[in-house]
Amino acid sequence: MRTMNQAGNVSVSPTAGEGAPFDPGINEAMIEGLVRAFYGRARLDPLLGPVFEAAVTDWEAHIGRLCAFWSSITLKSGRYRGEPMAAHVPLPIDSPHFERWLELFADTVEKMCLPAAAAVFMGRANQIADSLELGMAAKRGEIKSAVDRPIRAERARA
Ligand code: HEM
Repeated sequence: MRTMNQAGNVSVSPTAGEGAPFDPGINEAMIEGLVRAFYGRARLDPLLGPVFEAAVTDWEAHIGRLCAFWSSITLKSGRYRGEPMAAHVPLPIDSPHFERWLELFADTVEKMCLPAAAAVFMGRANQIADSLELGMAAKRGEIKSAVDRPIRAERARA
């Protein structure tokens, strides 16, 4: 952003989109705080809680994986190696679960992060929830993927 003081000097402060590195103030400690707070609430949630309690046997391992996941996404640390899709396909979850997950995550993020960091977390959470939900629906045969649509496959070959 460019600002001019009364003497007419122009100063340039780094903002996203102007080629300057964008630092929303995310670090490993705040990621761990956020992940612990979110899963503390998710475990108690009437809709999400039973799914987690039935599937997660080692909570510290789960928290560790999720910290690595968010660290890779927001800090590009490369700490996460895993397959979120494979972990979710067998779970009894559907659109209402994703809606509730996002609602609870947004509420936790807004309470714990400054707006710039909150925007980064929520932007990525929404994208990933969308791709998980779509990918799961395709794997369950609820929607067809492009390769399974004969007409699309024909056109793609042409
Ligand atoms: C619909 C709501 C969701 C439920 C009920 C849910 C539940 C679960 C469960 C039970 C696991 C396996 C945990 C374990 O075995 O330790 C898991 C793993 C995971 N979830 Fe979710 N999840 C949901 C949505 C999401 C979303 C929206 C994201 C990302 C934004 C996400 C990210 C992950 C990741 C990264 C893992 C670890 C996968 C691995 O490497 O093993 N989940 N989730």
